[in-house]
Amino acid sequence: MMDSHKQLFLLSLFLILNLSVLLIIGDIRVVQGEAPTTKMFVFGDSYADTGNIKKGISNSWKDPYGITFPGKPAGRFSDGRVLTDYIARYLKVRSPVPYRLRKLMPQHLKYGMNFAVGGTGVFDTLTPGPNMTTQIDLLAQLIKANVYTASDLSNSVALLSVAGNDYSHYLATNGSTQGLASFVASVVNQTATDLVRIKELGVKKIVVGGLQPLGCLPQVTAATSFERCNDTSNTLVLVHNNLLNQAVARLNQQTKDRSSFLVLNLYDSFMSVLNHPSTHNIQSKLRPCCVGVSSEYSCGSVDQNKVKKYLVCDDPKSAFFWDLVHPTQAGWHAVYNKLRTMNALQHIHH
Ligand SMILES: *[C@@H]1O[C@H](CO)[C@@H](O)[C@H](O)[C@H]1NC(C)=O
Ligand SMILES: *[C@@H]1O[C@H](CO)[C@@H](O)[C@H](O)[C@H]1NC(C)=O
Ligand SMILES: *[C@@H]1O[C@H](CO)[C@@H](O)[C@H](O)[C@H]1NC(C)=O
Ligand SMILES: *[C@@H]1O[C@H](CO)[C@@H](O)[C@H](O)[C@H]1NC(C)=O
Repeated sequence: MMDSHKQLFLLSLFLILNLSVLLIIGDIRVVQGEAPTTKMFVFGDSYADTGNIKKGISNSWKDPYGITFPGKPAGRFSDGRVLTDYIARYLKVRSPVPYRLRKLMPQHLKYGMNFAVGGTGVFDTLTPGPNMTTQIDLLAQLIKANVYTASDLSNSVALLSVAGNDYSHYLATNGSTQGLASFVASVVNQTATDLVRIKELGVKKIVVGGLQPLGCLPQVTAATSFERCNDTSNTLVLVHNNLLNQAVARLNQQTKDRSSFLVLNLYDSFMSVLNHPSTHNIQSKLRPCCVGVSSEYSCGSVDQNKVKKYLVCDDPKSAFFWDLVHPTQAGWHAVYNKLRTMNALQHIHH
């Protein structure tokens, strides 16, 4: 009796171990796949950057950025994963390698590439990073050099995260309310031009982020001790998003399959999470997790003696915002889940 029990136990253990080996192999096959892998090409700003921004100029390469994932600063503007990583997860591909690191990881080129750089816009901004046009030029060069072929591109998805920095640049340098409407129109027009160009390079599906509620960013809500979103700023965002939706609808009408372009509704997904934070296990909705000890410092700042000049909350998982501008990993995860339940992602597949 004992022996057959023991045998049975060993047999089931053997089966379980084998099963888990199969599951692991299954998992690798999903990622590596013999069939052509979907490639992801990413353009835009800090919501999408996974390591392109240069180390010297950005706090995203300093502690405590990256403490949740990958466990140390890696250039992402968060404690962990960002929008790019979640869209890659949805597409079941590896988060694409940052352009700046492409030579260090040639084996990862097959998953696509991330050209996004924190601080950039469709137009030039206050940061020195490449604008959207220049980021797209980089992909065009790689195609010319045969790093990506026509068949690679026919099985690819582009993600764009833009325009937030164009507006902060406008407000910082000009700020005239009279000029704002025509500036919004020119930002959307330039975005549409960029979308068309990516399509003409051969990318199959092009997903562009609608603007997030800028009036809810801690940078803005600090004025009300992180109590209330600023309606004036959010109204500007809605104007931008309306024009963007119209422009994208027009572009789709001009394409054969009528669905090459897709706007990701970041406004509604952010607002839904911020209006029902507890549904997503978020306790701190507008107060950021990591802040400078005073207004001249920010998350990641140290003084000349390398003494920390910032404070981090106990549990980044319970906060929506990480710093004054960017969501935590938990924040992005909640937004991602919301986008999925809104059925906003199902049309990404081509
Ligand atoms: C983007 O940057 C390039 C290179 O600096 C510049 O020539 C171009 O005018 C910029 N494009 C836009 C739309 O701002
Ligand atoms: C600022 O806005 C005004 C009003 O629209 C416009 O005439 C001017 O060219 C703008 N200046 C800059 C530097 O963009
Ligand atoms: C941008 O505006 C110009 C001039 O108003 C127009 O000719 C062009 O078609 C617009 N581009 C897009 C992609 O909407
Ligand atoms: C909201 O933002 C606008 C424009 O930046 C500013 O003029 C206004 O004072 C802000 N409102 C509040 C309640 O902070």
